[in-house]
Amino acid sequence: MLLLLLISSAFLLPWAGAGRIIGGKEVVPHSRPHMAFLKIKFVNQSGIHTSRCGGFLIRPDTMLSAAHCVAKRRIVNITVTLGAHNISVREQSQQRIPAARWVIHPKYSPVGYINDIVLLNLKTKAKINKNVKQIAFSGSNEGVTVGTKCRVAGWGRTAVEGRGSDVLMEVELKVQNDEPCKQLFHNYLRHSMMCVGDKNGKKTTYEGDSGGPFVCNQKAYGIVSRGVGTKPFPKVFTRISYFEPWIREQLRKFALQELPGSPSSD
Ligand SMILES: *[C@@H]1O[C@H](CO)[C@@H](O)[C@H](O)[C@H]1NC(C)=O
Ligand SMILES: *[C@@H]1O[C@H](CO)[C@@H](O)[C@H](O)[C@H]1NC(C)=O
Repeated sequence: MLLLLLISSAFLLPWAGAGRIIGGKEVVPHSRPHMAFLKIKFVNQSGIHTSRCGGFLIRPDTMLSAAHCVAKRRIVNITVTLGAHNISVREQSQQRIPAARWVIHPKYSPVGYINDIVLLNLKTKAKINKNVKQIAFSGSNEGVTVGTKCRVAGWGRTAVEGRGSDVLMEVELKVQNDEPCKQLFHNYLRHSMMCVGDKNGKKTTYEGDSGGPFVCNQKAYGIVSRGVGTKPFPKVFTRISYFEPWIREQLRKFALQELPGSPSSD
């Protein structure tokens, strides 16, 4: 009996994870303390809806995400959860803070997801601790070479027909050259977007992962932006380095409005 159990579990184990992300795995809880979970309440003709996205903390009161996450007609409110692992539980480590305001890139276009970036300012500063930390982002002259493997995490769907994940999942994806994206997306712009993915199509980001950071050497270089239908490869991410001057300008404005004369932290 015991042997039978052992044998069957040995066969079952490899499948235990089969329904999970598209090729990713659960992260060690709280090992990605910059990750934020966004719950976006919005209204349309059929009533109130909730959508979810990822984001990441770059200052104790400021986050980055994808513009398409919030560029909905009428937003009721946005709640940001920091320090989370399982978002279905109210973990002690979690800090839930409403977004006070957000600035969508002035040239964002939903057609082609051009300039798909938004800065969100939180109502109160997050408490920085081992579960909640900011992450650095790439400067305007920092590139990442084709072939580099970077990581992207999210609470998005773990299967094409699945639901969002309770726990934070992560995949490693490679920076690609621009060709596969140019072919698939006629609005692809190489200066402000990056082409990313796993050529075998076994690993990918999916619905609900939008807005999360693409992290190479502990720095955010991209923001999960778009794909085509259920196609796992390639994906287009927002190239943060292109937007660095705009991000810095917004940060200065936030600082001026709220905390005149306060030192900026890095
Ligand atoms: C997350 O928490 C919920 C509620 O307690 C639980 O049902 C679920 O199994 C947890 N998910 C994982 C993957 O641990
Ligand atoms: C957001 O809106 C929902 C539904 O209207 C409400 O229950 C919730 O309290 C609101 N949250 C914040 C932070 O205002």
